[in-house]
Amino acid sequence: MDRMRRGLFAIAIALAAAVTPATAAPHQARSAPTVQSERLWLGSAWYPEQWPEEAWEQDLILMKRHGANVVRIGEFAWARMEPEEGRIDLDWLARAVALARKHGLKVVLCTPTNTPPAWLTTRYPDTLRIDGAGVQLGHGGRRQFSIASPRYREFSRKIVAAMAERFGRDPDVIGWQIDNEYTDESYDPAARAAWGAWLKARFGTLDALNAAWTTQYWSQTYSDWTQVPFNDRPGNPGWMLELKRFITATWVDFQKNQLDAIRARARNGQFVTTNLGGLGWANRFDRYAINRDLDMASWDNYVGTGHLEPYRNGATHDLARGWKRRNFWVMEAQPGFVNWAGVSNILDRGETRAMAWHMVGHGADAVLWWQWRPALNGQEQYHGSLLGPDGAPLPFYAEAAELGRDFAKASPDVAGTQPVSQVAILQDYDSRWAIDFQLHHRDYDQIKLLLDYYRPLKDRLGAVDIVEAAGPLDGYRIAFAPSLNLITEAMATRLSAWVRGGGHLVLGPRSGMKDAYNRLTVQRQPGPLAELLGGRVEQFYALDEQVPVTDAAGGATARIWAEQLSVKAPDTQVLMRYGAANGWLDGEPAAITRAVGEGRITYLGTMLDEVAMRRFVEGQMQAAGVAMLDRLPEGVERMTRTGKDREITILVNHGKTPRTIALPTPLRDVLKGGTVSEVALGAYGVAVLGTRRR
Ligand code: GAL
Repeated sequence: MDRMRRGLFAIAIALAAAVTPATAAPHQARSAPTVQSERLWLGSAWYPEQWPEEAWEQDLILMKRHGANVVRIGEFAWARMEPEEGRIDLDWLARAVALARKHGLKVVLCTPTNTPPAWLTTRYPDTLRIDGAGVQLGHGGRRQFSIASPRYREFSRKIVAAMAERFGRDPDVIGWQIDNEYTDESYDPAARAAWGAWLKARFGTLDALNAAWTTQYWSQTYSDWTQVPFNDRPGNPGWMLELKRFITATWVDFQKNQLDAIRARARNGQFVTTNLGGLGWANRFDRYAINRDLDMASWDNYVGTGHLEPYRNGATHDLARGWKRRNFWVMEAQPGFVNWAGVSNILDRGETRAMAWHMVGHGADAVLWWQWRPALNGQEQYHGSLLGPDGAPLPFYAEAAELGRDFAKASPDVAGTQPVSQVAILQDYDSRWAIDFQLHHRDYDQIKLLLDYYRPLKDRLGAVDIVEAAGPLDGYRIAFAPSLNLITEAMATRLSAWVRGGGHLVLGPRSGMKDAYNRLTVQRQPGPLAELLGGRVEQFYALDEQVPVTDAAGGATARIWAEQLSVKAPDTQVLMRYGAANGWLDGEPAAITRAVGEGRITYLGTMLDEVAMRRFVEGQMQAAGVAMLDRLPEGVERMTRTGKDREITILVNHGKTPRTIALPTPLRDVLKGGTVSEVALGAYGVAVLGTRRR
């Protein structure tokens, strides 16, 4: 291909100079490799209970043949494990595990509590979930149980304990997955009672609760705990926030019930995780809280209709990596297509392999297909899989096998490395909820806003962290908080200390408007950080049209939201001003910044167009002294993983246009072998490059 036409782009790979173990951020966990990250794992969800035992062995042979080293079993098989109350039969499962062992596959066992057996739900209807509208669910689907039901917890504990008793010391069972994709809370009487108890524990007295929620408003004052509403409809924002926290705590307890049953019996080294769904960003509960008790985070990465959106999907991996600030597993990945999307199209040939490498580039140590083989009946007959109903490979199997070969080659280099960054985006579920409860502008989308920051960062860095705003920030040079709506005094104290010590904090619109109870703070935004900023928000405005903005480099446009800022300290500088707008904003500051102690705090009160956002984000990185890499051609993403003695760069071409990347330093081509100084990436092409082991 013509060199000029395809273009030759220099790539400044983050070699030792940019990110080395010596400068690696200390916030990254650096414990000895645990089983989950000792190699790259590849496997599938397998449901032996759906098939006659004679078919099992052929399944496992084909798994091994395409490069699998792990299989995930048990997830929805409660009816098979406990066919009638108290009669637990795990022999079949033991035979499945033994057969996996025979074929050299390790096993992740899943607890089956997502799908209670029919005898349980019919004999004990009090275990059934009642949805927010007061409707009780019945049998035939899944997730029809109440996460708060003590009786359901008891049944769950027994079956999980029996599993752990049987498999907790099995050397080939490497880990556990609790339940499946936690989703729906319940509004049944047991949950109601727990809600009352939660409120009492949180507030102590009704006076305190009434004060926190300002219940003088609309005569909401409560004189008895049982009067406090319990449903999923919109209401008082303080009440709504507390309900979210209660739902989170209920899931944490639900999980702990099983976690304790496993940990009491499992050998050291078996990990426990849960596969979070909701395309990663779902916020029905706080995902940091869920992961706190677990050994490893995992999530289920689906595309649905269309094709991979690299920035959004990459940021979702980074979010998942941030849940425990460690590498994670993709517990479910689509083998080409799903069955539930508006159009359940297949990803292009090669795209799923590229997507798998994208996962690894962002910190996944495992990719498990969902699913291996479709059940002959049941709700998911149309879902993508590796085998057909006949037990023979489908066309996608060949692509999965290519990935199997990739992983076998790359595992020795990639395993034990992880993405490391000096740049963080701060995420906070309280703030997510608080804004979502009261959008004020129907197009105010916090994930889109986060991605506005993320794109320019990712283009210039090998890795970007997305971490909990309430967590430690040591080791980061700069942290962007696009939507930190809720800032408590404690958080403000911590952030201020970090800034004074040399951190650079960039706050986005709506920052510091609310306190821990979702009350308006009595200071103007950013509330407890206004003094540090030496400036504040005079007024916020939802925009019905775009507004011009000028910064030092030229003009820009703002949309959706604009805050009129003011400067209060003599050393606070204005970075941007609004042009002629609604009269209120005209000529007023849109962004301000102040150097404080060793660091800096910046406030951007609006949403900028893409070009201006890039300018702003890069300017902030430059001010913070972050080393930036060259931009790569459109569609090519560079991801770096750092280990004790090596640096891995993964290049993925997310597009169909072939690209050639020139490397400033020759690197080892891990997949193809040899040393290369230029990499040709075809449509959905992948390259894994390594520095030599030192
Ligand atoms: C996931 C779920 C799997 C399967 C899959 C289909 O959300 O965890 O069990 O239903 O979707 O795409």
